[in-house]
Amino acid sequence: MSVSFEKDIKPMFRPIDVEHMKVYNMPLDDYAYMSDPSNDHGNARSVEETLKDQSMPPGGPYWDEQQLALYSQWKSDGYQP
Ligand code: HEM
Repeated sequence: MSVSFEKDIKPMFRPIDVEHMKVYNMPLDDYAYMSDPSNDHGNARSVEETLKDQSMPPGGPYWDEQQLALYSQWKSDGYQP
């Protein structure tokens, strides 16, 4: 079964993550935004970068290996809803 945004990815963002990033026009809970194919899925990729390099969320808690692996699988499964 492929990784689902609604079922697997979205629940990993805390309400505070979603709230704070809305201010920067970055709706982490919005499938259309997160799966936007433009720029080689640039939105999804830059979010992944901040999670991997632990620049987000500021001060943590940072995503663990399992969470990062799930996100990466979402990517290789083709960003399924
Ligand atoms: C491309 C991706 C992202 C960019 C460019 C970005 C950028 C920023 C910037 C500029 C701030 C405000 C300055 C700061 O507090 O450092 C901020 C705050 C925040 N971001 Fe992100 N962010 C991204 C992704 C994320 C993700 C994936 C999460 C959560 C998993 C997240 C969670 C937060 C939170 C919780 C704050 C508020 C921190 C506070 O006020 O204490 N951000 N982000």
